[in-house]
Amino acid sequence: MPANGRTDAKAPNDRAQSEAGAHSGSKELLRPEDLPQVLRAVSPDIPPLDPKNHAHRGVLDQKSDRFEKLEVEIGCGNGHFMIEYCRLNPLSLFIGVEIKKKRCLKAQAKIDNQDIANARVIYGSAEEALHYLPDGSVDTFHLYYPDTWPKSKHRRRRFLRKENIEMLQRKLTVGGLIFFVTDFFDYYFHTKVLVLLQDGLELSSKTPSESIFQSMFAKRFLDMGKGVHVLAARKKRQSPGEEKPVISE
Ligand SMILES: C[S@@+](CC[C@H](N)C(=O)[O-])C[C@H]1O[C@@H](n2cnc3c(N)ncnc32)[C@H](O)[C@@H]1O
Repeated sequence: MPANGRTDAKAPNDRAQSEAGAHSGSKELLRPEDLPQVLRAVSPDIPPLDPKNHAHRGVLDQKSDRFEKLEVEIGCGNGHFMIEYCRLNPLSLFIGVEIKKKRCLKAQAKIDNQDIANARVIYGSAEEALHYLPDGSVDTFHLYYPDTWPKSKHRRRRFLRKENIEMLQRKLTVGGLIFFVTDFFDYYFHTKVLVLLQDGLELSSKTPSESIFQSMFAKRFLDMGKGVHVLAARKKRQSPGEEKPVISE
């Protein structure tokens, strides 16, 4: 993707929302199935995306003339991190996925009121949204203070479980990053083990943006005197299946 910047600050947001059937300032929100259209709105040359067709891998990388990167926050809440991050990184197209409608509406209102041109909110589960993103298309996944499910019998409900980590790996560009921050050591520890066991991922020494310490949840934990645990993982240069994508019929 060329490194040129946006030429019209408001256009990408407006176009993506209207093409995907959502209207700025209304109660309508983008849904996971709108994601292909959101991507096409910023990269008009992208053919219709078939989530099962791995041939679309990396296509976003080459086609957008507005954005250098595609970044996704899973569980963006009210959008505290997203808004701050998007201001600092105008060349990233940032998609925040959130399962709670009220939080999506708050995040969308911030985007609208503050004219943030590079942020989109998707109302739905991250698991579903991921299916609509092409493999090899996401530069960075952000997961900040996801629900911890502290009881061991509920651990399987955590977002960062084996099958979802595999999915994140598939959606990442080679060299792409996952940033994960939690106040709960057990979640951090188990995720670290899962990453170490995951062929194709490796731990990274990169650190997430300082903005993660400004969110409502971050402030709550820091006010309580709780430390937070930070983990970064990177998709390895050569991961299994990377060079020979499986193309569905
Ligand atoms: C503790 S909050 C953190 C919000 C935000 N990351 C922050 O730091 O302010 C976790 C958020 O993840 C959302 N969430 C939980 N499971 C989700 C899923 N499967 N897909 C999308 N969002 C999810 C919750 O609704 C909640 O808003």
